[in-house]
Amino acid sequence: MPTTILITGGNRGLGKGLVATYLSTPNTTVIATVRDPSKSESLSTLPKASGSSLFSHNLGALDIVIASAGISGPTHSLAEAPVSELQKYIDVNAYGPFELFKAVHPLLPSSSAEKKAKFVYISSAGGSLSAMYNFMPIPAYGASKALANFLFKWLALDNKDMIIWAQNPGNVDTDMARDGLDLAKSLGFDLSSLSFTSPEETARAIKKVVCVLEFRRRCECDRSD
Ligand SMILES: NC(=O)c1ccc[n+]([C@@H]2O[C@H](COP(=O)([O-])OP(=O)(O)OC[C@H]3O[C@@H](n4cnc5c(N)ncnc54)[C@H](OP(=O)(O)O)[C@@H]3O)[C@@H](O)[C@H]2O)c1
Repeated sequence: MPTTILITGGNRGLGKGLVATYLSTPNTTVIATVRDPSKSESLSTLPKASGSSLFSHNLGALDIVIASAGISGPTHSLAEAPVSELQKYIDVNAYGPFELFKAVHPLLPSSSAEKKAKFVYISSAGGSLSAMYNFMPIPAYGASKALANFLFKWLALDNKDMIIWAQNPGNVDTDMARDGLDLAKSLGFDLSSLSFTSPEETARAIKKVVCVLEFRRRCECDRSD
């Protein structure tokens, strides 16, 4: 069955891994959003499976939306951080995907009757209220992810006609992760024992989760994934 998927932050990192993974799935139309098209030229060279294409013009319905775009970075200690410093992360990591959800919402329920549309918010362990990794000075990042977790959980409870969830991708070898490691090193933390998964491998794992959550139709996952 043909699938149409929209992925934000598609030009690099995990988003690009997701674009590559879904493009290599037959009969899939991938819409990759990028904020600077000049940075997305490498997308056009990605291998495409039969019947699959990148970008689409007559967008009638979406089957899957993955909100991957995000930012991380250090802030002042929370007691000293101006609200404006937190706002930047909340705008990009929480309100951005929330606005995206509202924008695509009309396109999601019209996904074909045998399957429920899915909206995946790419979250982070940094937003966990039980883990609270406060050795790193990234409280604004964590707060933005925690807020988004709440918003998407609420949306999931309100919108039973689709499947909505927040997905922690784990440690992924991307610019964001490398910047985090550099930050940790500059603060004297040795995180060299942490292992990082490639964006492509993480994307394949996320695709499996998306497939497993498909209640209404036989899963079309490639079993070799
Ligand atoms: N990497 C990890 O270990 C890890 C762990 C947990 C969660 N995550 C989450 O995974 C997601 C993807 O992260 P990543 O590691 O792939 O990061 P990344 O390599 O830094 O890529 C970030 C992506 O987000 C886009 N982006 C950033 N700010 C944006 C904005 N204001 N508007 C639109 N797009 C924007 C970037 O576009 P530009 O190229 O234009 O900047 C880029 O495509 C994020 O939500 C992140 O929080 C990552």
